[in-house]
Amino acid sequence: MKTLETIRAQLNDCDSLLLDALTKRMACVDELIAYKKAHGMPILQPKQEAIELSRLHDKLSENPYLDEIEAIYRSVIDSSKRVQARRLFPRSIFLIGFMGCGKSSVAAYLSELLAMETVEMDAVLVERAGMPIADIFSRYGEEYFRNLESNLIVELGQQKGLIVSCGGGVPMRAENVKNMKQTGRVVLLTASPKTIYERVKDDTSRPILNGNMNIPYIADLQAKRRPHYEAAADVTVETDQKSVLEICEELIEKICALEAAQT
Ligand code: S3P
Repeated sequence: MKTLETIRAQLNDCDSLLLDALTKRMACVDELIAYKKAHGMPILQPKQEAIELSRLHDKLSENPYLDEIEAIYRSVIDSSKRVQARRLFPRSIFLIGFMGCGKSSVAAYLSELLAMETVEMDAVLVERAGMPIADIFSRYGEEYFRNLESNLIVELGQQKGLIVSCGGGVPMRAENVKNMKQTGRVVLLTASPKTIYERVKDDTSRPILNGNMNIPYIADLQAKRRPHYEAAADVTVETDQKSVLEICEELIEKICALEAAQT
């Protein structure tokens, strides 16, 4: 049997190899970023990621530690995505738009693709208040809820690298828009009244629509809010008939183009 010192020395050798490989890998990521920037390529390459993972599975199919190794590998890929995302747009992304336009789904997908932290404003406010939004409205009134939103936007506006799914009413206050733009890009997601209706019709968590769940009401409120949404938006992405991936790719492409044009 090997001595303990020998085994420890071998482990040290492995760690050195790992550290060298990770350092080399990060240098490759730097080159990749430079290449993608120079060629205007999207950083989102889910197909590429799937190829890398299937290569890992092929290579380690018999390995009893496949799960553990895969978890480590995924974290390496995640850190690489985070580095790429921060380099290509070193800000936060604030997703705005009417209820049901897809902000939460897009935020969740983006956060997976870019390994960025997501903040779901409504969920944060519900957790802090210890009650559903409908109860905040009925107990304290809409103005109180809007103030909670504004305070949260001030907090979030001081951070970077977040994906924030905003409540639908956030862009209605100019101060919120100003605070979002301090560290972020504001992305407007749009959808037709019919699409919105289909997405929200069975959900009773939105007090603004309770009792008004119909297409004409949605269309009317959308029309009233549109000028505020459009004035706030740095970038707009229409979501009707598009997959979440298509929406995310378009969004990133537009944000990167904006970033490139302003630097
Ligand atoms: C609201 C939208 C909701 C939530 C609240 C009010 C609005 O968020 O903040 O019910 O005024 O548009 P979502 O847009 O995420 O549904």
